[in-house]
Amino acid sequence: MDAQQVLHMNNGNGETSYANNSKFQKKVMVTAKPILEESIMRLYSVTPHPCCLKVADLGCSSGPNTLQVIYDIINIVDITTCNLNPKLPVFQFFLNDLFGNDFNTLFQSLSQFLKIIEEKKTHKFGPCFVYAAPGTFYSRLFPNNFLHLVHSSYSLHWLSQAPKELANKENIHLISTSPPEMHKAYREKFQKDFKLFLKLRSQELVPGGAMFLTLLGRDKTPVMRKAWELISTTLNDMVLENLTEAVKLESFNLPLYDSTIEEAKEVIEEEGSFTLLRLESVTLDWDAHINEDINDDNNELDLNMRAEFIAKYHRAVLEPLLKAQFGEELMDQLFLRFKNKVVQWLMEVQVLELSTLVISLIKNA
Ligand SMILES: C[S@@+](CC[C@H](N)C(=O)[O-])C[C@H]1O[C@@H](n2cnc3c(N)ncnc32)[C@H](O)[C@@H]1O
Repeated sequence: MDAQQVLHMNNGNGETSYANNSKFQKKVMVTAKPILEESIMRLYSVTPHPCCLKVADLGCSSGPNTLQVIYDIINIVDITTCNLNPKLPVFQFFLNDLFGNDFNTLFQSLSQFLKIIEEKKTHKFGPCFVYAAPGTFYSRLFPNNFLHLVHSSYSLHWLSQAPKELANKENIHLISTSPPEMHKAYREKFQKDFKLFLKLRSQELVPGGAMFLTLLGRDKTPVMRKAWELISTTLNDMVLENLTEAVKLESFNLPLYDSTIEEAKEVIEEEGSFTLLRLESVTLDWDAHINEDINDDNNELDLNMRAEFIAKYHRAVLEPLLKAQFGEELMDQLFLRFKNKVVQWLMEVQVLELSTLVISLIKNA
């Protein structure tokens, strides 16, 4: 399977769509926002004030988070520049994702959104132009010295493809007991992809341009439970019940990697085009932000509701890839069983946690 052809989040605005099930990723954005503010402040302190600020959002997907990024960046630039008192620049936003992304739904929601921006606008605001920039961020997307700011939220843990020829029969990804050569194969793929990503962006950014990234991370010390362990055991159960074929499970590996701080830092330093301003790891609960969705005055949500919330956003992210490999007819059962396993884990540990890396970089002059 060519992951770049198949990978996208669940389309549309329906029950299982990413647009309706991306509150966890929103929590990541909210948590990391002070570092985005700092990156933009730094951008304005090192580059002459551009009259047209060119911003790329890489792996933008479709839904409220994509619009939130535009909204936040305009506001931060407004606040950052109000003391400097220049006119706010014209904004050009380039929304990038793979070709299978639901750009139609995204651009349909834009007209309303741009109206809101227009109404909010004071004399200081210039126009805001928004463009699609489809393609993989593991290739060139923009001309040389073109962008002032690259933003990418929760996308860069996706590899260009899973490492080839892994003897990973019963799991769809690494687990703590996977053999060392499997960990090495994934780590090397991440290093190669991330290095390429940095090199390409360094060509596209102006000197002093800023890059702000969040991605799935991994803490070295505590062994965190991983969602793909549960998906793997669920798929193994389904193989035993003849609901799917073992050969499909044996040949499937998720093309993603959760890097540690040290691994990411090593690649940034080795690649050499950027100065590292920040590299932090934040830990969030799997059901961070659930309270926004569920009106529970006592704040005592039952495990079933929490697991349902968790299963829905995992489905919104993973379904297109899993559907392409195992067939659409398996999906309801797969995610129902996944949800039940999450309930069991929550009963055991109460809180399930996930690490996120937040990275702020400036392109060297
Ligand atoms: C979890 S979504 C994040 C969406 C949004 N940025 C947010 O924070 O809610 C990850 C996105 O990255 C995109 N993606 C993964 N690999 C990519 C690549 N090589 N090039 C461009 N986009 C990619 C996926 O298609 C998906 O839409």
